[in-house]
Amino acid sequence: MYTQSFNVPDSPGLKAVPLAPSTENPELQAHFDSKIDADGKIEPQDWMPEAYRKTLVRQISQHAHSEIVGMLPEGNWISRAPSLKRKAILIAKVQDEGGHGLYLYSAAETLGTSREQMLDGLHSGRAKYSSIFNYPTLTWADMGVIGWLVDGAAIMNQIPLCRCSYGPYARAMVRVCKEESFHQRQGYEALLVMMQGTEEQRAMVRDAVNRWWWKCLAMFGPPDADSPNSAQGMRWGIKRISNDDLRQKFVDATVPQAKVLGVTLPDPDLKWNEERQHYDYGQIDWDEFWATVNGDGPCNKERLATRVKAHNDGQWVRDAALAYARKQQERTMKETA
Ligand SMILES: [Fe+2]
Ligand SMILES: [Fe+2]
Repeated sequence: MYTQSFNVPDSPGLKAVPLAPSTENPELQAHFDSKIDADGKIEPQDWMPEAYRKTLVRQISQHAHSEIVGMLPEGNWISRAPSLKRKAILIAKVQDEGGHGLYLYSAAETLGTSREQMLDGLHSGRAKYSSIFNYPTLTWADMGVIGWLVDGAAIMNQIPLCRCSYGPYARAMVRVCKEESFHQRQGYEALLVMMQGTEEQRAMVRDAVNRWWWKCLAMFGPPDADSPNSAQGMRWGIKRISNDDLRQKFVDATVPQAKVLGVTLPDPDLKWNEERQHYDYGQIDWDEFWATVNGDGPCNKERLATRVKAHNDGQWVRDAALAYARKQQERTMKETA
C-alpha cells in the first residue's frame, strides 16, 4: 500500500512549498523535459533537476514507510486469525507489505539517499507515512475491510504510478500492484463469508465498514483545489491522475461491491448522479485528517513506538548478517589468494 497522495515536508510544522523547476543546467533540463514529454523513463544515472529528485525521495520513502508501518495493525491479528486458512493468508499479506517496503527503499536508494537516513526520518517522527495506519483495528472484520477498502484505495493510487516517469519506482509498482490485487480480493472474500454467517458477524462487518469508509476516502489526499503541488507532480509525470479523480474512481468502483456484499456505506449523500455519470458523495472531515497526519490520531504514538522497538530488537539480526557477509568475503579472498 499506500502512497500519501499529498506532499508533506519531512519536518513537522513546515508547509509544503511548490518546488520551482531547476535552472541548474538549461541544456540538461531541456533534455530532461523532452524525455518527460515523450513519456520516456528517467533512470538513476540520468541527469534530473534537484527538485525532481527531492520530490521522488520524499514520495518513495513515505511510500516505503507506509508499507512497513502498514504491517503493524494487521500483524497484530495474525495470532488471533479465526482459522488456519485465514492465518496463512494474513501472514502472506503482511509479508508482502514488508516486501513492498523493501522494493521501495531500494528504489529510493537509487536517488542517492541511504536506508539509514530514511529509517532515521521515520523513527524520529520527521518523515510521514500514510495516516490510514494511525487508526485502531478493533475486530477481525477490520482485517477484511482493510483488504477491501484500504488496499482497494491503494490500488487506485498505485496503478497510475506503474507509468510514473522514474523507472525504478514505476517498475517496483508493477509488482506491488499485482500483490495488492490479491490483498484486496482476500479482504473482500473474507467479508463475503462473514456476511453469510451469524447476525453478530454481519454486525462486525457493518461496524468496520462504518469506521473505515471515510478514512479511506481521505487516503487520496486533499481536494485538488487545496493540493498545490499536484500540478508540478503531473508536469513531471510522477502523478498522472488528480486526487479528486482518483477518489471518484474509487467511489464508483466500490459502491457496486458494497451492494453485492450487502452493506450500506455510511454516507447519506452517496447517490448516482445521472448527469455526471458518477456517484456523488458527502463531505470528508479534513480537520480530523490533518490532525492525524500531524501526529494526533488515535494510534500515531503506538505505531511509531512499536516500529522503533521492532527495529531495535532486530539489531542482532543485522549484526549477524553483516558478520556472516564479512566471513564469507574473507573466505573468498583467502581461496582466491
Ligand atoms: Fe503494499
Ligand atoms: Fe497491500
